[in-house]
Amino acid sequence: MASHHPQSTGPMHGTDPRPQTFTRSGAFRGTVRVPGDKSISHRALMLSALAVGESRITGLLEGEDVLATAAAMRAMGAQIERSGKGEWTVHGVGVGGLLQPATALDMGNSGTSTRLLMGLVAAHAISATFIGDASLSKRPMGRVIDPLSLTGAEFTASPGGRLPLMVRGLCPAVPISYRLPVASAQVKSAILLAGLNTPGITEVIEPVPTRDHSERMLAGFGADLSVEIDADGVRHIRLVGEAELEPQQIEVPGDPSSAAFPIVAALITPGSEVTVTHVGMNPTRTGIYKMLEAMGADLTYSNERVVGGEPVADITARHSALTGIDVPPDVAPSMIDEFPVFFVAASMAQGRTTTSGLDELRVKESDRLALMATGLAAIGAKVEEREDGLIIDGSGGEPLEGGATIASALDHRIAMSFAVAGQHCYHGVTVDDVSPIATSFPTFEVMLAGLARA
Ligand code: S3P
Repeated sequence: MASHHPQSTGPMHGTDPRPQTFTRSGAFRGTVRVPGDKSISHRALMLSALAVGESRITGLLEGEDVLATAAAMRAMGAQIERSGKGEWTVHGVGVGGLLQPATALDMGNSGTSTRLLMGLVAAHAISATFIGDASLSKRPMGRVIDPLSLTGAEFTASPGGRLPLMVRGLCPAVPISYRLPVASAQVKSAILLAGLNTPGITEVIEPVPTRDHSERMLAGFGADLSVEIDADGVRHIRLVGEAELEPQQIEVPGDPSSAAFPIVAALITPGSEVTVTHVGMNPTRTGIYKMLEAMGADLTYSNERVVGGEPVADITARHSALTGIDVPPDVAPSMIDEFPVFFVAASMAQGRTTTSGLDELRVKESDRLALMATGLAAIGAKVEEREDGLIIDGSGGEPLEGGATIASALDHRIAMSFAVAGQHCYHGVTVDDVSPIATSFPTFEVMLAGLARA
């Protein structure tokens, strides 16, 4: 299917592949701040666009995925302006006030934009067509089509429940109570966003907790939302619909998923000491740091505070002798996006690291289990790919061989993970196309080079 629509709304990264070789550059030293949290940035734009009045956002991630959300909210009537680096002003249309977009909504590479906006459109009397790049057009949308169909919305999707697809919303929609069959914050959020403009109570039942930014931010905007944990430890999230959202000032913390890249680079590279400031420490996101610590990583946290309803800290990482561990499958949702770079750390640790319960990694921006297994093997790591995880026997701190070219397959985190791996390989690592990095971390290469020079 076409990934570039002549009348589309959204930004896309260039079509020319940009290869880059990453080689050993000595110790990493210094202090950096990573861009704003991607999940929170999407939600800040969406909820501000649904409040009545002016919201201000600082620290917004200005990556392609978030810009796709901004373009789509503009196409549906919100006024969204950039007033400085990471500083944005949004005049919302009010819950229920979204307008029919004139052209297809181009979601680029962004699954979060697509799934959350499908929820918003579903409960408005509008229809919208969603298109995206080759990676996004392979990803399953049935997981949001199923619950949103129960609210009365209608979907016409490409075969396999994929993009391009059209949503015809219904207003008033029907409130639902839905038990999540997959641990997915995107599915949870799509249902809650549909519930905003739906009369009555919308309930999401979440047996396995996932990132709770939507719940925190909806409450922050004044929505009537409650979370009850039942006797079995299952979360029941209930939202009273036809909400009125109050405009907010939102400070977006740094993305813990982005911070993981310089932190792992420091842990595997002798002599390194790196501090990443202002990192989001929401416990639904920090599994990577807990698991690295379990491997022996020297991480210290300072300046712990709360910013915009989210815990934040500065993290200092020093080069460490890492030891392999068994990652319990229940940790997976709190480090779901960090497994690619975690596998890099494991491939350089002492001993065996095992992971399981990671089926979801096969339907991210790429099949991350397959790409990490073949890519790490190509640079000399000992990896076994299982259906739902990888088993990795580490090098014991020795550099890997390197020398291979890795296909990033339109996946920013694959590209960044191998950029980090290249720092501790005898012959470096070439990534065939680093342009996908712009979806979440446009300053990544400059930041890494700066830490290497310091
Ligand atoms: C996200 C949820 C996760 C994550 C993605 C962002 C979100 O996806 O992988 O990068 O912002 O809600 P799933 O909900 O599919 O697990």
